[in-house]
Amino acid sequence: MEKKAAIRHQVNQALEALTEKTHAKWSFEIAMHLISSTYWKKAKMIAFTISRGREVDTYYLIRKAWEEGKRVVVPRANFKTKCMTFYEITRFDHLEDRPYCLKEPMVEFCQPINHDEIDLVIVPGLAFDKNGYRLGFGGGFYDRFLPTVDAITLSLAFPCQIVQTLPVEKHDQKIDHIISPFGFD
Ligand SMILES: Nc1ncnc2c1ncn2[C@@H]1O[C@H](COP(=O)(O)OP(=O)(O)O)[C@@H](O)[C@H]1O
Ligand SMILES: [Mg+2]
Repeated sequence: MEKKAAIRHQVNQALEALTEKTHAKWSFEIAMHLISSTYWKKAKMIAFTISRGREVDTYYLIRKAWEEGKRVVVPRANFKTKCMTFYEITRFDHLEDRPYCLKEPMVEFCQPINHDEIDLVIVPGLAFDKNGYRLGFGGGFYDRFLPTVDAITLSLAFPCQIVQTLPVEKHDQKIDHIISPFGFD
């Protein structure tokens, strides 16, 4: 869809324009809102992705989850089937560089987990709207994965990633809540 591509381009530009200082400050504020939420406190297993570039930082949150004795799982994408398998990681050394600047678990060191065990999914994305719709990076990976889990879904977003309404197609999945530096949306 051309409209989606245009929004992806626009949001990417806005993200690139964020200073390192703003990125760090807002990432920290978002982390504080998440960590103090009941969703976080209740979750024993959390699915994250490893943040890239100007995405909301997830390294801090993953360390925090480990400190609190939570289990952390991250996906490994199959680019042919456009499906993901989630593996538990216990250290960042067990990640490797993959296409699209992704850092993903090394299968020789990490165990795949059963999707049923995931309590909370931190869903990555480029843009989000007031109805909970999400614009991803264009692969449809989370649109395929989300219907297979019964977990709370949260997305972390900077103000430039939140728009009034996004173009939505039949396959697009909603997110339960969006967290911005100002709190839960
Ligand atoms: N559940 C699904 N089954 C089959 N194809 C899907 C599914 N979800 C998404 N797709 C396909 O994936 C592609 C990307 O979806 P899109 O929503 O544009 O990406 P994203 O969600 O990453 O922004 C589209 O061509 C779409 O038809
Ligand atoms: Mg989609």
